[in-house]
Amino acid sequence: MIESVFKSIMDDKEPIVLYRRCLSDVKFQIAQNDELENEVNENSHSSAKILELTVDNDVVHGIYEGGLKTWECSLDLVEYLSIKSKEINFNGKKILELGCGSALPGIYLLSTQHSICVDFQDYNEHVLKLVTIPNILINTVLRPQSGNISELDILEETNCLDQLKNSRFFKGDWNGLTDILNLYSNQEKYDVILSSETIYNLDSIPKLYNVIKNALKYPNGVAYIAAKTIYFGVGGGILSFCQLIEQDNIFEVNVVYTKTAHVRREILKLSFL
Ligand SMILES: C[S@@+](CC[C@H](N)C(=O)[O-])C[C@H]1O[C@@H](n2cnc3c(N)ncnc32)[C@H](O)[C@@H]1O
Repeated sequence: MIESVFKSIMDDKEPIVLYRRCLSDVKFQIAQNDELENEVNENSHSSAKILELTVDNDVVHGIYEGGLKTWECSLDLVEYLSIKSKEINFNGKKILELGCGSALPGIYLLSTQHSICVDFQDYNEHVLKLVTIPNILINTVLRPQSGNISELDILEETNCLDQLKNSRFFKGDWNGLTDILNLYSNQEKYDVILSSETIYNLDSIPKLYNVIKNALKYPNGVAYIAAKTIYFGVGGGILSFCQLIEQDNIFEVNVVYTKTAHVRREILKLSFL
């Protein structure tokens, strides 16, 4: 099943609606795949483990980093992009969403802008295959007609994969991602980097920052990082991330969006000094 998760109504324009695959369906598919494989190879072992972990845990460091569900800041980032798309011209831009998970911010741009190239990265391959790619398809080529939400046909989805040619998908740790991205010249780098709820872990913040620093086009590239001010129990958050940026003295940081909630949420805009 798919569900509608974001609706933005701007002026007299058509409302913008985003869809995502239901988490229960993703878990069902993981379980079904394991049953079909019927052998303990490396993949089936890790998928069973992910299934087990996601019942009670949001994140298990180094194994599952939370990409199966949609986190709050991801919707903040979609809202911000939808408001700003009037004044920021994303058309023709090269975009990277880091730690994408359900990837709604990148998908929002992919489905509303022209001649755009959006690449997606997630720690877990399962997340890319079972959540990110299906979500891209149901918001583009398989988009429900007139809000009619129905079952997602995996076979039909597989036939549509060649329609994803404007996107690349990267799995694994941020450590070493810069090499894998193959960005030899400034021209090949990204105009915009998006990332939501990815600065919760103090150990990972420098790795994420290095990818941003190396993959962003100089001098006009911009990164939008949506996050909570503090992640209780894990230690990361806006403050630790900003301290690192300040020490490095390469980027200017501006808070461009704030949401007051039980834990305050912000979007940081990073641009080269
Ligand atoms: C809490 S989830 C957020 C998912 C999505 N951006 C959202 O807001 O709904 C954190 C994401 O960060 C990524 N991540 C965390 N640590 C990582 C690491 N060390 N290397 C690569 N990716 C990592 C994972 O891909 C994971 O999906």
